[in-house]
Amino acid sequence: MRLPLYKNVTVEEIRLISRSARLRRLENADFNPFMLHSKDIAIDLLTDSGTGALSKPQRSAKEKGDNTYCGSTSWRNLELAARRVLGFPYVIPVAQGRVAEHVADFVMIKKGSIVPGNAHFDTTKANIEVMGGIPVDCTISEAYATEPLFPFKGNIDLEKLEMILKKNSRRIPYVLTTVTCNQVGGQPVSMENIKETSGLCKKYGVRFFLDIARFAENAYFIKKREKGFSRRGIAGIAKEMLSHAEGAMMSAKKDALNQTGGLILLRDEDLYLKLQPYGVLFSGGIQYGAMSGEAMETLAVGLGEGVQDRYVEQRISQAEYLGKLFRNIKVPFLEPIGGHGIFVNAGVWLPHIPWDHFPGHALNCALYLSDAIRAVEVGSLLENRDPKTRQNRRAHWELLRLAIPHRLYDERHLDYVAEAFQRLSTKRSSICGVEFIYETYPMRHFTSKFKLV
Ligand code: F0G
Repeated sequence: MRLPLYKNVTVEEIRLISRSARLRRLENADFNPFMLHSKDIAIDLLTDSGTGALSKPQRSAKEKGDNTYCGSTSWRNLELAARRVLGFPYVIPVAQGRVAEHVADFVMIKKGSIVPGNAHFDTTKANIEVMGGIPVDCTISEAYATEPLFPFKGNIDLEKLEMILKKNSRRIPYVLTTVTCNQVGGQPVSMENIKETSGLCKKYGVRFFLDIARFAENAYFIKKREKGFSRRGIAGIAKEMLSHAEGAMMSAKKDALNQTGGLILLRDEDLYLKLQPYGVLFSGGIQYGAMSGEAMETLAVGLGEGVQDRYVEQRISQAEYLGKLFRNIKVPFLEPIGGHGIFVNAGVWLPHIPWDHFPGHALNCALYLSDAIRAVEVGSLLENRDPKTRQNRRAHWELLRLAIPHRLYDERHLDYVAEAFQRLSTKRSSICGVEFIYETYPMRHFTSKFKLV
């Protein structure tokens, strides 16, 4: 048996409320699990974003938090750590990843701009669209096929990208590669693909950006699956990945192991000077960007902890462990396993629920009702409506994502989750789909209300 990487220093008790209480909570939440209270949830796999445990070094770094409005020492510590770990000279702090997107898009996107990339995350897509831009998904077709088990399903289709660049380079403010690619199951992008995308962008004079929310997990997969990297450390691979991009947008709440925060990272001083005032306007001053001194200190430490080999290996092994349990009980999920969790193929598991009754969301409600576990739909509900036609967009798959928070749970929690699925599997034909009774725009996941169909 592998030696566990952590011992628990601070603990929080998990309580299990009764099934009838769970039904009442779900009804009060209008069948939207986003509206449930944490005290009513036993295992929360909604997200790995800001939900992990802090380390002792992070907790003690909090004590150094300097909340001076301008010239804070905590900002200086964070800026130096970001330059050291990520390798960009210019750093703009923001509240979180989506604010980085908004600041960058506000300056760079005009009506009719095109932003090609691998599959954009939902806030990334919505930020581009509200500025009048058009996100274009150039992920390789293997990403959307259950077979074969291609090792880098987050890769960009370079031929498709070149066709778009050839025709429209003037309308493209930047090309964006998201590592790992959340929208296609946390799938990684190879170093070769990052390099070649960067080369194409240079050829057509277009900027190349990375979304680096889960950059350390991507570096892990390069180490394990790409030729020539097996002896390298995660930190060095990550830095090499980032060296191919002119800029990056980062949610600091995932692989940087922080509870909050985000960064815009740049090499071009002119662009940095253009974006900075909008960072001030939309997020906060140039030396805190909406993060407290404490949050900047924990982030400075988290950036370094998040690229340690032992840590990243332990993290991915949890997703692999849950995947193995699911294979044993024949729950279908996206393979190969991506970085931050397991994406159950609810559309396949619940074939009686049509896509526009959102099988992933229906399974989420059923899972909460049966065992007080919460996850999140990644399917046609998340895909949202077309901004022009207002028609529901059909996703490639109807998934339920079980995201594993950083350092929070161990294998026993994952055993409980697999057992819950095993119990559900005999009753799954009785799980009902859902319909809107109230739908919000532009983000409909969080605040819409549903009824069972
Ligand atoms: N990019 C990616 C790839 C993301 O997964 C997220 C957030 C963001 C950008 C936005 O960052 O939350 O800091 O504003 N993903 C979370 C999730 C919410 O659950 O996957 P944020």
